[in-house]
Amino acid sequence: MRIGVYGGSFDPFHNGHLAMIRSALKSGMVDCVIVVPSVCNSFKRYTSILPAPYRYYMVKDTVEASGLKNVYTSDVEFGIEGVSYTVLTLKALTDPKYIRKFLEDNGVKSKKASEDHDFYWLMGSDTLATFEQWYKPGEILDYVTLLVAARPGDDTDIEACARFIRKNLGGNIESFRLDGVECSSSGIVREDDFDLCPEPVREFIKTHALYTANTKLEGCSDDAKKQFFDFAVLMYHYLGEKRLLHTLNVGILSAHLAEVHGADKDKALIAGAIHDCAKELDIDEQRRLAGEYAGDTFTEKKILHSPAGATFAKTNMCIADKEILDAICYHTTGKGGMTVLEKIVYVADKIEPARTYTDLTDIRIAAEKDLDEAMRMTVSAVRDKFIKQGRDIHPLTQDLMRELGI
Ligand SMILES: [Fe+2]
Ligand SMILES: [Fe+2]
Repeated sequence: MRIGVYGGSFDPFHNGHLAMIRSALKSGMVDCVIVVPSVCNSFKRYTSILPAPYRYYMVKDTVEASGLKNVYTSDVEFGIEGVSYTVLTLKALTDPKYIRKFLEDNGVKSKKASEDHDFYWLMGSDTLATFEQWYKPGEILDYVTLLVAARPGDDTDIEACARFIRKNLGGNIESFRLDGVECSSSGIVREDDFDLCPEPVREFIKTHALYTANTKLEGCSDDAKKQFFDFAVLMYHYLGEKRLLHTLNVGILSAHLAEVHGADKDKALIAGAIHDCAKELDIDEQRRLAGEYAGDTFTEKKILHSPAGATFAKTNMCIADKEILDAICYHTTGKGGMTVLEKIVYVADKIEPARTYTDLTDIRIAAEKDLDEAMRMTVSAVRDKFIKQGRDIHPLTQDLMRELGI
């Protein structure tokens, strides 16, 4: 097969990206397109607005919802340690074992998936001029033909650039006609106008309240932001889409609430973002990790992941801060004498933007003004749910209820 590979930050994914994909397929020069959202882009390390999992799922969900035929989304960069230079992405993606399995998983018949494939790197004409400055451009050309999008009226001399690259590095460079809107992700974010994004992207952004003041993480240190981005990638390997995006949402909301209520924003961001990191581990593993952090305080299956998460954070994420670890440990039960940080993570877990289990408007309003009132409302709702389901209320939660006077 002739496989087009389209890498980018997609921060956000917009109609211009879709035009690129559609035009490449329409040109007949490729049989399919694999979209590869960047995880740790060499040019934009930690400077993308959203951590990689948001961007990956935004693209994947949109490609699926749009019913685009022969277009697939790859998470190959999540497996690359450090900066995911294009040459490393291509090395991993073009590996015969990887590509065969990837295509089969995406519904391509075995026989076709196991063929020898030709790979084409899709790129805009503006990036062709700087191609030689990429990391190991000569090696990139060993893996792919550069397939350059030529927009009608574009004054870039693609052929001159291509001649120059061929002379210096060899390799194949071809072009195809690009039709469709011209827009940029940075422009869309700057103008705060998402009309140039496909509907599923707009829906995704709305669900998770992305590209808002909160997602800018202003007031968080660069180190905390880097950790947030790195942990997001690490947790991708342990959590499914819904849970991963939920736990990241809690991090962003916790950082905001920390600002409002005078807690440490960095700690709130990290504690919130990783609070559910252990939730999808094998239950026996959860029990073992839970015991390591909290002895036999937590026994019920549904809450094991909170102390287990504290151990996981300590061991796999090198978190030594007791306040952060305790905020993770007690996010399910709460307890008497909670710190502001613990309350923030507890509340944010119940009301992050993607939560829709009930009308949360009142608690969300309270959380912006009076954290203890938001706690009272949240814990009351939890108590009611437990009574309805006939579940025992944990002694730690009972302490909390007494303290809150409910
Ligand atoms: Fe949880
Ligand atoms: Fe949670």
